[in-house]
Formats: sequence, structure tokens, C-alpha cells
Amino acid sequence: MEFDDIETIAVLGAGNMGHGIAEVAALAGYEVNLRDIKEEFVQNGYDQIEWSLEKLAEKEQITQEEADAAIDRVTPYVDVEDAVGDVDVVIEAVPEKMDIKKDVYGDVEQYLPEEAIVATNTSSLSITELSEVTERPEQFCGMHFFNPPVRMQLVEVISGAHSSEETLQATEDLAEAFGKTPVRVHKDSPGFIVNRILVPLMNEACWMVSEDAATIEEIDSATKFDLGLPMGAFELGDQVGNDVTYHVLEYMNEVLGEAYEPAPFLEQIVEEERFGKKTGEGFYDYE
Ligand code: CAA
Repeated sequence: MEFDDIETIAVLGAGNMGHGIAEVAALAGYEVNLRDIKEEFVQNGYDQIEWSLEKLAEKEQITQEEADAAIDRVTPYVDVEDAVGDVDVVIEAVPEKMDIKKDVYGDVEQYLPEEAIVATNTSSLSITELSEVTERPEQFCGMHFFNPPVRMQLVEVISGAHSSEETLQATEDLAEAFGKTPVRVHKDSPGFIVNRILVPLMNEACWMVSEDAATIEEIDSATKFDLGLPMGAFELGDQVGNDVTYHVLEYMNEVLGEAYEPAPFLEQIVEEERFGKKTGEGFYDYE
């Protein structure tokens, strides 16, 4: 598949990242099929896109006409065949678990046009391993967006061991067409570039709370004001989703070793299902 032939995109998973990626693609003029496993999940993702487009229009970052045109390009689906049967690219953004992602590719493969590219928004998992459950490992690569996708400029385009140059180039061109800046990641290692650096920072902040070395507020003040990050470490965790951070760490811990062991405080937060902004509660309350 060449970049110029891309017209229609399926985004699988309508959660935080999925609906954000669908919004970005629709704003760039692509027809987008947004798919999740339950009607309520897709509807929630669709509503979030509407909310975000309204916000952008209110702040005059886009016009009302652009917002209306973008939402018109998004079609919600539950049925897999309807969602992927006639698309040029699939961007998969389902939960950060190897087994779930592999199951999804199994479902999708039978209906997907032969030339279509499959790009995964995984935050850390092996692109090579994921590609090997598909029948198109050369047409498979990582396309990793950052949260919130509509505001964040970077997209990591990650090469798996089998990704073809044509696939990587088309994916980079697509990221640019989305108004983003792609960075090619040539090595498929856990966490790629950004999460390999950022997730340990968030985990270290949790270790400090676990050890009573500092409070959430102290750490956030220090990371925000002294390190110059746009958000404090805990604010960022709540933005990203504490379940996502935890899954990334579990995987990095398994593959890279004990330096990445999740902190007890993070484990506790995840056990209590305080996943962050998306659940209304995380390190901070959002209700
Ligand atoms: N769409 C539209 N508006 C949105 C929005 C969205 N998706 N998300 C937030 N907003 C709105 C808020 O509602 C708020 O609106 P009000 O002013 O009306 O209350 C407004 O945006 C906040 O925007 P500001 O411009 O005032 O705030 P800001 O300049 O601080 O920008 C930010 C917000 C872009 C999120 C900024 O804080 C930032 O860059 N944070 C860091 C985010 C980051 O690093 N993300 C990457 C995390 S790592 C990751 O995602 C990878 C992974 O795999 C885990």
C-alpha cells in the first residue's frame, strides 16, 4: 500500500487513544471507521470526539465547519467485517495486553483487504511478535501516538523485524498528513524511545511515595517546575492512564529486568481501579 492510495482508515478500540487517533485522522480528511467490541464503548468514544472537536472550535483552533466535517467522517462500528472489510489502513489501539492484541488481529485478518497496512499503537509490546500472528508481517509496523493525540505532536513509527520499507514510509507519510512529526524507531525494543524514558520516571515517582520519601504534591511541584515538564509526574500518569503505565512496566520488567518493577503504590492505585482522568479518579480526583 502506497501513501497516495490511503483513503479509509479503521481505528480498532475507541478508548482514550483510539478515539483520539480517529479524531486526528478525521480532521486530516480521512474516512474513519471507529470500532469497539460493545455499542456503549464505541458510542462513548464517538461522544468524546464530539466533545473534543467542540472544544477546539470554541477555542478557534479549528472552525465549526471543520469540526462538523470531521465528525461526519467518523462512522462507529461493532461488527468487525463492516469495520475493516474495505479499508486501506488499520490502526489498532486496543488494551495494552499481548493476548488481546493477538486475538484482535486473528478476528480482523479474514476480512481485511490484502494490501492493507496494519499499524499498532502499542506503547511497548514487541512489534515483531505481534506481526507474526498476522499473515502480513511486512505490512505491519508500530504507529505510536501520545496522549492526548489531538494535542501531541510526536508519532513514533516503529519497525518490526519484518516491516517493509514501503510500509514504514507510507506510515510516516500518513503521520505527516495527520499534521504530526514522525520519528522512525529502527529497533523494536520494549517501550521504544519515549516510554522507555518516561514510564520509569512515573514509576520512580511512585516508588518515592511507596517509601514515604515525598508526597504526590511535592513530587509534582518538583517535576513540573524544576524539571520543566508540562505536567507533574502524577498528573501525567492520570493523563496517560495508570493501568497503561502499569501494563507497560509489567512488560518492561518481564523483558528488561527488575529495574522496571512496578512500585507498590502504583500497584495499589491500579488494584483500586483509579486509572486516572478517564475513570474520574487516579492520583487526583476529577469529579
Ligand atoms: N481535545 C480538546 N481539548 C482538550 C483535550 C482534547 N483531547 N484534552 C484537554 N483539552 C482541553 C482541556 O479541557 C482544557 O480546556 P479548558 O481550558 O477549557 O479547561 C485545555 O485543553 C487545557 O489546555 P491548555 O492549552 O490550557 O493546557 P496545556 O497547554 O497545559 O496543554 C497538554 C495540555 C497538551 C495536555 C499539556 O499539559 C501537555 O503536553 N502535557 C503532557 C502530555 C504528555 O506528555 N503526553 C504523553 C504521555 S506518554 C504517552 O501518551 C505514551 C504512552 O504510550 C503511555
